[in-house]
Amino acid sequence: MEIFHISAECYPVAKVGGLADVVGALPKYQNNAGHHVRVVIPCYDSKFKNENEFECVHWGHVKLGSFHFPFNVLKEKTDKLGFELYLIEIPELFDRKEVYGYQDDIERFLSFQIASLDWIIGRNEVPDVINCHDHHTGLIPFMMLYCHKYKKLQNTPSMITIHNGLYQGQFGFDKLHYLPEFDLAHVNVLEWDNSINSLAVGIKCAWAVTTVSPNYLNEINYSANGLESLFNLVRYKSRGILNGIDIEVWDPAKDNMLEKNYSIKNFEKGKQENKEKLCNLFNLDPRKPLFSFIGRLLEEKGGDLLPHAAALALSENYNQINILILGSGNPIIENQLNSLLADYKGNYNTFIGYNEELAHLIYAGSDFLLMPSRVEPCGLNQMYSLRYGTIPIVRRTGGLKDTVIDFGDDGNGICHDQATVGDVCYSIQRAVDLYDDKKHLNKIRKIGMSTDHSWERVCQEYIEMYNLIIKKK
Ligand code: GLC
Repeated sequence: MEIFHISAECYPVAKVGGLADVVGALPKYQNNAGHHVRVVIPCYDSKFKNENEFECVHWGHVKLGSFHFPFNVLKEKTDKLGFELYLIEIPELFDRKEVYGYQDDIERFLSFQIASLDWIIGRNEVPDVINCHDHHTGLIPFMMLYCHKYKKLQNTPSMITIHNGLYQGQFGFDKLHYLPEFDLAHVNVLEWDNSINSLAVGIKCAWAVTTVSPNYLNEINYSANGLESLFNLVRYKSRGILNGIDIEVWDPAKDNMLEKNYSIKNFEKGKQENKEKLCNLFNLDPRKPLFSFIGRLLEEKGGDLLPHAAALALSENYNQINILILGSGNPIIENQLNSLLADYKGNYNTFIGYNEELAHLIYAGSDFLLMPSRVEPCGLNQMYSLRYGTIPIVRRTGGLKDTVIDFGDDGNGICHDQATVGDVCYSIQRAVDLYDDKKHLNKIRKIGMSTDHSWERVCQEYIEMYNLIIKKK
């Protein structure tokens, strides 16, 4: 089967969050399973772009209302990522360091979507299926159905995968003329709550909708930032497919970013060596339990709970624990976290920013990983931490509920229900008690390390979904 994934992110080329990890891994496993997979993302000014060789396979002009932007389609020459990678180069709009956050993001991603389709219709063959990801590619299913120039793709099935329904890419009807010509009889398809809502459009027009965990699919029926009723309407074509992880990249036995490699057979010693290295780097005490957080410091991820929870847990335990935070995001949260440094020296530290290598060392060297998320469509960090023998402490929401079961129910982690400082601290307290019972602790670590979250197993569910819509053709 010939599959196109169109996305704003793809690890290791451009990463802001978990979307990149999924789009960097799932296609590889689909390719291994015998399919012909292509990944298309914008060409940002990235290290990967500058350090690898590309060939230009197509060029043209994107027309956006009265603007014209020249573009090239660049293919990475060696397929080193395990699939064919294509970068849509629109220098005026994407030759920048960041993936998102610019005033013209609407124009940028609209141009990207148009250029991608212009190229796809220019090819001889039509793909079997186009898999869009999140709102940045949400207008593609609409354009395939209704824009005159993409008529060739009218019968090509499209699927949209929702990694995060909070972000929807809304814009005003004053920008309607940016879209390639289409039959105005369908203009109402674009509308949701008086604006053009890219995610809603994708959900309406795609032949199938997937979310990144089954539980998130249930949750968005009553909590989806205004799209609840739409999700209810499209339930018939929706499915929740739990993300996998790339077990080649995330393997404590082979990971070259670790101080010491280890497996389920010698994890106690292996984890301790990584912990010592980590504690050395951050002036922490390797004899005490180490709680870490890795991720974006946003309310959505419960980042705002961390400063208070950390201060309370450290004082209640008379500094008998360590807490380490890696992440960036809301500057207020960043400042609050940094302001604790002086009071809890030797037991608490932060790294504001993102560092992939350090993240790997933290998964390996920590005892517990905090994920107090308010919203977590899937969450990958809990799966990485399980694989590295680190016990996740999660709020029961979205994909966290699908993947982490409390150790009180013979599970692999520690769970709480509320996104509150009280609940987080209560879980930390349970973890401190567990840490003293090494036999029990190791039993739970082993359960986590032996869970299979590989894409190999999961990627078949995507293929089944594609097959369902291909049959509808
Ligand atoms: C988004 C979600 C996260 C999910 C990831 C990959 O970042 O917030 O929960 O794991 O996408 O699908």
